[in-house]
Amino acid sequence: MSETSSRIDALVGDHAQRLSERLQAHRAQLFPPDAKRALRKFTSGEVADLLGVKDAYLRKLSLDGKGPSPETRAGGRRFYSPEDIQALRTYLEAGAKVPGTYLPGRKPGDKLQVITVINFKGGSGKTTTAAHLAQKLALDGYRVLAIDLDPQASLSALHGFQPEFDLLDGGTLYDAIRYDDPVPLAQVIQKTYFTNLDIVPGNLDLMEFEHDTPRALANRDGTLFFTRVGEALGSVESEYDVVVIDCPPQLGFLTMSALSAATAVLVTVHPQMLDVMSMCQFLLMTSNLLGVVGEAGGDMSYDWLRYVITRYEPGDGPQNQMVSFMRSMFGDHVLNHTALKSTAISDAGITKQTLYEVEKSQFTRATYERAVESLNAVNGEIADLVQKAWGR
Ligand SMILES: Nc1ncnc2c1ncn2[C@@H]1O[C@H](COP(=O)(O)OP(=O)(O)O)[C@@H](O)[C@H]1O
Ligand SMILES: [Mg+2]
Repeated sequence: MSETSSRIDALVGDHAQRLSERLQAHRAQLFPPDAKRALRKFTSGEVADLLGVKDAYLRKLSLDGKGPSPETRAGGRRFYSPEDIQALRTYLEAGAKVPGTYLPGRKPGDKLQVITVINFKGGSGKTTTAAHLAQKLALDGYRVLAIDLDPQASLSALHGFQPEFDLLDGGTLYDAIRYDDPVPLAQVIQKTYFTNLDIVPGNLDLMEFEHDTPRALANRDGTLFFTRVGEALGSVESEYDVVVIDCPPQLGFLTMSALSAATAVLVTVHPQMLDVMSMCQFLLMTSNLLGVVGEAGGDMSYDWLRYVITRYEPGDGPQNQMVSFMRSMFGDHVLNHTALKSTAISDAGITKQTLYEVEKSQFTRATYERAVESLNAVNGEIADLVQKAWGR
């Protein structure tokens, strides 16, 4: 049969099948199934930085047999697993002068922080930002839930899920927000290989919510679409300090429901003319739609909104002009620090990893350090906003 007369659904279906098989093979090669994906160990220097203490102090603790015992490798270098880091936090917090120094999460009365990462431009860095933020907050000792709201499921892929293969019987947020027979959110939450970080993966099922909602609204039985995500989160509220939601590149019912659940909004912007123009459309549309949701009784309150500049190249003149323009327009709403464009970030992405997971030896030291410092600075500013929302 010629290509033109064959059915497009069959052809595309065949391509999808072949691609999925190859992707599975690729994953099996990178992360053999018997060697379950695990997080690398961290050097004592990295751990000292994470905890804000001196490496010498960590050495003394381990010599005195206090806290977890690190693995000692050639040359006496000490390495800590993510569980060890958490154990160190617990140990240090017990003797901390200021409570919350080592375990910075919620105290009684602090409300769950729900940070939604949005923009309808694909490639603006939403998933990269959300993944690095969620992982860094987890390493910092916050209890974090990451939610993949994008049917394209890139955030899930970064955490080792191949959506069309691993989630055959559902298992996405859709199961917990659907109008008929929703399951408790806890049923679709999965542990990751990061201590303190759980994830609700995504896949194409999420699209169903966009199809179901108009029908549910037409029934006029008082169903509200914009409370679905917030209500689902309510059921696991006490288990987490921060929720990070990676939104799809569109302003559908999913994104609006996430925005309704949000206590904070992070808009990713690549500083180029077309991207900023597209963002302008996005902001206009968001404002209009959320206005309508607000009038219908949706919760539109939030603690903060920030723009984060992504894939920034400081040597690029036009990009600098765009950044200055954004800062002059939006002032303090633009984060001071920027996510620099780096091959360390894009190369890590090729093996479905973040900067916090990759073996540093893959990169020249300067390349890695520059990239990780830039993302740590962005994430640090966001952690400060979280603390501020809790009145600290
Ligand atoms: N700071 C960065 N430096 C280099 N590449 C980046 C950076 N941020 C994102 N990328 C790359 O750009 C692409 C799009 O980023 P992504 O986070 O997936 O955007 P979105 O989720 O908005 O579609 C990905 O291939 C990612 O690896
Ligand atoms: Mg994405």
